[in-house]
Amino acid sequence: MNEIAAISLEQLPYSAAASAFLARKPQLFIDGAWVDSSHGKTIPVEDPSSGKEVARIADASDTDIDHAVAAARAAFDDARWSGLPPISRERMINRLADLIEANAAELAELEAIDNGKPRTMAQAGDIPMAVAHLRYMAGWSGKVGGEVMSPYAMPAGAVLNYTVKEPVGVCAQIVPWNFPLMMACQKIAPALAAGCTLVLKPAEQTSLTTLRLADLVAEAGIPAGVVNIVTGLGETAGARLVEHPDVDKVAFTGSTEIGKLINRNATGTLKRVTLELGGKSPLIIMPDADPAVVGKNAASAIFMNSGQVCIAGSRLYAHRSIFDRVIEGLAAATASTWVPRPSLDPLARMGPLVSREQFDRVTGYIEAGRKAGASVAIGGDAPSAGGHYVNPTVLVDVDPEMSVVREEIFGPVLVAQRFDDIDDVARQANDTCFGLGASIWTNDLSLMHKLASRIKSGTVWGNCHMMLDSALPFGGFKQSGIGRELAREGIEAYLETKTVIVKL
Ligand code: NAI
Ligand code: MG
Repeated sequence: MNEIAAISLEQLPYSAAASAFLARKPQLFIDGAWVDSSHGKTIPVEDPSSGKEVARIADASDTDIDHAVAAARAAFDDARWSGLPPISRERMINRLADLIEANAAELAELEAIDNGKPRTMAQAGDIPMAVAHLRYMAGWSGKVGGEVMSPYAMPAGAVLNYTVKEPVGVCAQIVPWNFPLMMACQKIAPALAAGCTLVLKPAEQTSLTTLRLADLVAEAGIPAGVVNIVTGLGETAGARLVEHPDVDKVAFTGSTEIGKLINRNATGTLKRVTLELGGKSPLIIMPDADPAVVGKNAASAIFMNSGQVCIAGSRLYAHRSIFDRVIEGLAAATASTWVPRPSLDPLARMGPLVSREQFDRVTGYIEAGRKAGASVAIGGDAPSAGGHYVNPTVLVDVDPEMSVVREEIFGPVLVAQRFDDIDDVARQANDTCFGLGASIWTNDLSLMHKLASRIKSGTVWGNCHMMLDSALPFGGFKQSGIGRELAREGIEAYLETKTVIVKL
């Protein structure tokens, strides 16, 4: 890893557009206008590539949250959005997507400054996916509806029965810091298509692109009060949203711990709740797989976004006969590609972690693994720099009870284990409280499908990992979540079914 020392970890200069945005006054976007927080408190914004404060955002108070919910409530109740012809909603959601595309370079730079992810990755991944989620859901605006149904125990012809799909109401949407703009768009797209209004709270670590999105929401012509964007802390602003009696639904992506808390706190008013939570997704490598190809893909599956991905391939199970060669393939791919660099470096594939807190968490796990007897096959250390860089790490000689095997690390840390046969690997892969994703690597198609049916997770990939599409349902089994996002199920989570029975 000597070549790492030669790479400069100094962040590059910001563009004039990004600097101007960072210099803006910290404000909240409520009822179509930029407003000050009631108590004037702010939260620092840090560039994780340098560890330096670069801006401040508003820390929404209870009064601010109540103001935002009242705006969303009024916008829902007077039907200024749900009452529009669906073609108008579809057009405005698509206009928002157009504006994101037109401002892609600035958004990608802001994401890189705020989150630490390489700008090139934001430009090639986060931004196009945000746009795709909006465009896909825009199309559902005019395509949801109920059905006319025949009675079963009532005489035919004596009643007219039909169902109608109606928007669920005011939505509180709380998103994490790993894919800020994409997660925001994944949340607002189905809500808007369904006719809901919303208050979105980005993560306190990464609010910049969502604030920029607010400008574009206004520019797209979406009426005031339909989309409200409030920055603030989870335990105050987030908690207030979840408990607010005028909120009808909560959609959350984040840690399993906070997901459970939100589910409990939303019970008082029996809000609809959808949760996208943590994972510990296995890669299962059968003996016929090519170790170099799989090693390269396994490195991407864990090191992409510095491992801060809910579906990161964080547990590797390779058949005993191929294990050593897969680790060799991983080591080669890691050395050639996954070397931490500052987020604005055009050569960066991997940046720092999002925060010092996350750095401490991840390095703490590596240390705990070592203490418990794991061996470090790759990495295991962190370059000394102002930013929160951690070198890509692979741990071997682990056992199933270690915290590094059981818990979501959310960093560039892979644990690699061996297996003997299909029963053995199915058992090991399912030996977790999570169930978000899993990938199977083999050319034996029959085996692929047999194993896919035995894995308890919301998504199973064959010969790939981490692939997502707006048209394919996404969500978790077990403690990885409740409900599904994207696809038809994604918009249905924002609709109520009303049954109308008319005696003729
Ligand atoms: P978190 O779950 O605390 O934060 C996610 C969002 O929830 C943020 O917007 C935060 O402000 C909000 N929030 C926090 N407490 C809240 C509360 N009491 N009520 C309402 N909203 C609340 O995640 P955090 O602390 O940033 O990261 C800790 C760990 O969580 C990570 O190390 C990782 O393991 C996991 N995580 C998983 C994610 C995923 O996509 N599955 C995303 C982010 C974190
Ligand atoms: Mg937290």
